Amino acid sequence: MLKKIALITGVTGQDGAYLTELLLKKKYVVHGVKRRSSSINTHRIDKFYKEIQNKNSNFILHHGDMMDTPSIYNILSKIKPNEIYNLAAQSHVAVSFEQPEYTANADALGTLRILEAIRHLKLEKKTKFYQAGTSELFGGISKKPSNEKTPFYPRSPYGVAKMYAHWITVNYREAYGLYACNGILFNHESPLRGETFVTQKIVKGLTKIKLKKQKKLYIGNLYARRDWGHARDYVYAMWLMLQQKKPDDYVIATGKQYSIKDFINLVAKELRLKIFWKKNKNKKEFAVNENNQIIIETDKRYFRPSEVNHLLGDASKAKRKLNWSTKINIQKLVQEMVSEEISKN
Ligand code: NAP
Ligand code: GDD
Repeated sequence: MLKKIALITGVTGQDGAYLTELLLKKKYVVHGVKRRSSSINTHRIDKFYKEIQNKNSNFILHHGDMMDTPSIYNILSKIKPNEIYNLAAQSHVAVSFEQPEYTANADALGTLRILEAIRHLKLEKKTKFYQAGTSELFGGISKKPSNEKTPFYPRSPYGVAKMYAHWITVNYREAYGLYACNGILFNHESPLRGETFVTQKIVKGLTKIKLKKQKKLYIGNLYARRDWGHARDYVYAMWLMLQQKKPDDYVIATGKQYSIKDFINLVAKELRLKIFWKKNKNKKEFAVNENNQIIIETDKRYFRPSEVNHLLGDASKAKRKLNWSTKINIQKLVQEMVSEEISKN
């Protein structure tokens, strides 16, 4: 039987690595798009290198960029994939306030570039398309759990760019009959999470404090609340979306919500690091250790011009139609992230 061919943009990112692992296990031929960088950016997929060195490798990397139409077009015309997972993005919300135009170009127009390439290469009947959508689309919505019918209200240049990507995916499905799906994924983390996202920053910072390699952790808004799952569960949902009879859009979430402060407390507990929360005269919160030394402080630099205070998802459609559910709860996620971090120190 012919092997299915998948193309993953953003293959060097957190989700790219987990999805590569899943698809290789499922015997796909996996092509990944990586962008050129001055230092090596493949640490998350290095474990598949053995696979690359093998002559009959099922894992092939291509240089490309979401901002560069010819590279996208050429890769698609060469490999004619059965499935495309568009995971590439400037994915950091805070950075999108500093680089709004770049974010729009890579995240919004980048998606359009792939959809147009599918159309021009007449791959509409062959190629299924997954778009990495986000709970940031819901941004400023109320505290109730969001589902596929909840209206969007993005609160960052990143959220706005992803909103374009969402609707252009819907539009190409409706206008040209593409099998195109939006996964509206809530936050998902793992030991492979980028270091500047809050969960990994907390795990790395508190582990170093526990091991006396760092004195303090500076953090932003302690009271933002997120619905955090594990990336391994979430890439499985991406794959499921492309295995259905009809394309559709799905919310993927755990349905449970924790604050940043809760996450800090969970990590501290896992590390057996004693922390005591206090407030100064100006009601600014901080945490000390058993010797009354300040180990966590808030810092204006990490607050955003407009914040998304609450994110909570309702994934009942995915449960019903994809038979998907989250397997790894937040306690297990924290355990895995902490134990991986300890092993690196
Ligand atoms: P990530 O770790 O930041 O990975 C992003 C990937 O995109 C990296 O491979 C990065 O390459 C690549 N990339 C960035 N700009 C690019 C460009 N101009 N051209 C080509 N590639 C580019 O993100 P992630 O957590 O795996 O998330 C995957 C996707 O899901 C993203 O689209 C993100 O916006 C979306 N999403 C994530 C979450 C979440 O909680 N993780 C939730 C909802 C949606 P480098 O390695 O070279 O930087
Ligand atoms: N990054 C960061 N650093 N965030 C902090 C910090 C800090 O020092 N202190 C507090 N926060 C708060 C942020 O203000 C935000 O409310 C929350 O922690 C989560 O921030 P991130 O971990 O950066 O993730 P995000 O929710 O903004 O975005 C992630 O999830 C989206 C899905 O909802 C990214 O992965 C996006 O790509 C993804 O779409």
